[in-house]
Amino acid sequence: MTRHVAVIVGSLRKDSINRKMAHALIARAPASLSFGFVEIGALPLYNQDADAAPDAATVAFRDAIRPVDAVFFVTPEYNRGIPGVLKNAIDVGSRPYGHSVWAGKPCAVVSASPGAAGGFGSNHQLRQSLVFLDMPAMQQPEAYIGGADKLFDADGKLNNEGTGKFLEKIMQTFAAWVERNARS
Ligand SMILES: Cc1cc2nc3c(=O)[nH]c(=O)nc-3n(C[C@H](O)[C@H](O)[C@H](O)COP(=O)(O)O)c2cc1C
Repeated sequence: MTRHVAVIVGSLRKDSINRKMAHALIARAPASLSFGFVEIGALPLYNQDADAAPDAATVAFRDAIRPVDAVFFVTPEYNRGIPGVLKNAIDVGSRPYGHSVWAGKPCAVVSASPGAAGGFGSNHQLRQSLVFLDMPAMQQPEAYIGGADKLFDADGKLNNEGTGKFLEKIMQTFAAWVERNARS
């Protein structure tokens, strides 16, 4: 059975390392998983007043996440936390109260940064929200990928065999995690 996974990248940058990382992860995933990027850049800032009559971008985002079996987050770290655009997307998907599109969906978090700590702070700040959102988050392997600006060629291809093997392990473990935790 194919499991459908929404991929959310926490960077809006055209040349984003984290987007390249997401592509590298997808390329190493087992065939039991299918992936679709769900974009967060067009979402307005969440405003609870709009819950009664949400705008089209908000509706489209919630509609894109609702049917998937699982979610894969790939994010940079901004000032030791998650980028505001990603937190906004989390909040948009979580409301109206009682109608969160995240609830129960298994997920994984990979963070990547040119810095040595690999976005650890961002990765774990996101995990804090995942607890409240009731999203079973894969615990191992942890993935704080440092020095990530050196890992891709000019054409966006991963150039490091060791990292490639690590990404493959992440995706194999994620496939099993999704199978174990998917609600249907
Ligand atoms: C506003 C801002 C804050 C940043 N803060 C951090 C940080 O706390 N830790 C870190 O490792 N890198 C930090 N960086 C550097 C990012 O890791 C780097 O720009 C990275 O390329 C962003 O990811 P992306 O390539 O996927 O857009 C920051 C960058 C910006 C623009």
